[in-house]
Amino acid sequence: MKKLAIAIDGPAGAGKSSVSKLLAKALGYTYLDTGAMYRAVTYEVMKKGLTDKGEIAHMAEGLNMEVAPGEESMHVLIDGEDITACLRTPEVSARVSEIAAIGGVRTAMVTLQRKIACKGGIILDGRDIGTVVLPDADLKIFLTASVKKRAERRFEEFRSKYPDIRLDEVEKEIETRDWKDSHREVSPLRPAEDAVLVDNSDITLEETAQLLMGMAEKKENGN
Ligand code: DC
Repeated sequence: MKKLAIAIDGPAGAGKSSVSKLLAKALGYTYLDTGAMYRAVTYEVMKKGLTDKGEIAHMAEGLNMEVAPGEESMHVLIDGEDITACLRTPEVSARVSEIAAIGGVRTAMVTLQRKIACKGGIILDGRDIGTVVLPDADLKIFLTASVKKRAERRFEEFRSKYPDIRLDEVEKEIETRDWKDSHREVSPLRPAEDAVLVDNSDITLEETAQLLMGMAEKKENGN
């Protein structure tokens, strides 16, 4: 049976990470959350107070970043320190699109992602996996859902941690990030020509994973 490289791209809140985790568990594959890598660079930029794009790219190129699969989410370590808990804050979310649009940052992250993915048996989720990182991926999925649905999912995910969070604000943040991610010059968010488009507005994340599981099993068996 072939060990696949699976690319799952799509906008914020489409359920890429939840679906990827379910799929990785079912297939016995590794899951690489590439968004967490851009978030880690953003966190370091904020910590170091960098503003110049050249300096930011230089810092990203020299960053000692390791990723490790975990129970709940992928862990990201910088210089051996686990910074996973600092990556999904509203502050990092607000700045990550701007940092991820810097060419040098993307080159550094894509190099690392390809190195990790080269053995197969892996699922990468992101924005440019099918188009740039792994153009020869065995299975490419473009996962999306309506903005309303995606905002509701993010709202449910964050409301216990951030009691003041408002649904309309989450919806606005998602719309802003969608626009920035799909209009940037370098590797904008778009489906690869050979990607399967999956709109999961009206199905659950478990049902989405089931659907993708069927596609992956076919590919594993060479169909
Ligand atoms: O998947 P996420 O929301 O954690 O991603 C955070 C940001 O990182 C997202 O707004 C765009 C960027 N990103 C990217 O540009 N390319 C990727 N492959 C993954 C994420």
